[in-house]
Amino acid sequence: MNTKARKIILDCDPGHDDAVAIELAGKHPAIDLLGITVVSGNQTLDKTLNNALHLVQHLGLDVPVYAGCGIPMIRQSQVIADDIHGKSGLDGPVFSELEIEAEKEHAVQFIVETLRKSDGDITLVPTGPLTNIAMAMRLAPDIVPKIKEIVLMGGAYQLGNTTPVAEFNIYVDAEAAHVVFESGAPIVMMGLDLTRQALCYPSIVERMRKIDNKASKLFSDMMGFFNETQKRIFGWDGAPLHDPTCIAYLINPDCVETKDMRVKVEIRSENCYGQTICDFYNVNKEEPNAKVGVKLNTELFWDILEEGLRQYD
Ligand code: RIB
Ligand code: CA
Repeated sequence: MNTKARKIILDCDPGHDDAVAIELAGKHPAIDLLGITVVSGNQTLDKTLNNALHLVQHLGLDVPVYAGCGIPMIRQSQVIADDIHGKSGLDGPVFSELEIEAEKEHAVQFIVETLRKSDGDITLVPTGPLTNIAMAMRLAPDIVPKIKEIVLMGGAYQLGNTTPVAEFNIYVDAEAAHVVFESGAPIVMMGLDLTRQALCYPSIVERMRKIDNKASKLFSDMMGFFNETQKRIFGWDGAPLHDPTCIAYLINPDCVETKDMRVKVEIRSENCYGQTICDFYNVNKEEPNAKVGVKLNTELFWDILEEGLRQYD
């Protein structure tokens, strides 16, 4: 492994775009994927875990997978996105019989122990609801200074996708998101304003399919389903590839322009629960707590994704 590679823990809820984030991080020389921790979100935990294991097995990754939290910290009702990701949470591709298992250790314990043992050089990359991350911070507050950076997919400073103002990952467990955004850890937030610039048009799918390896075939199989549901529900001509923007940023930060903002998570309002209130113009004159993605260099982003898919046989 390249000694300069960025050490990361990918915390996810696969989910089609989480799956592309796993593909991109899995064998890219700039990334050292220490472990995949799984949370409920796009589907229930049993299904997101099953999907993560299938992806690791299919891609031939030597990466441990840990099951995490299956319910939010506070809210009783569980919200999933089966309308977008299907009954399995990863409808479209067909995988062979699963032969690998998740680690016995709980994801939260893995996150705590790995950070405690580290030199403070590990980046957390949450691309699902923030329950695992927040639970780790509450279980072991001493880990917060050991976090190099949190590069997360979530939130929006403009339009939501789950309510008019709230993005799915935040909405599913807004209290967990509140804990993370108030933790003091350095945060880079890839919100919908940024990720909706990564639209996977059919021409992109065709470009990646032509790589003609197991990762590119999986990509085109997944996008076949994901593009259809995103078109039907949101009218997108190409599905927004939300989660891989976090990995692409770690591979080459030039692909995302960010703006420092104070971000607060709404946890009390009935109508705005789960909104990330981003002080774009710093009207409240408060210290920023996040770098928020505002502009994607789309050409560079797709080049990075192609480079990542080409790492596979
Ligand atoms: O709102 C988009 C986010 O919610 C993505 O991470 C998607 O995978 C779902 O988790
Ligand atoms: Ca996700």
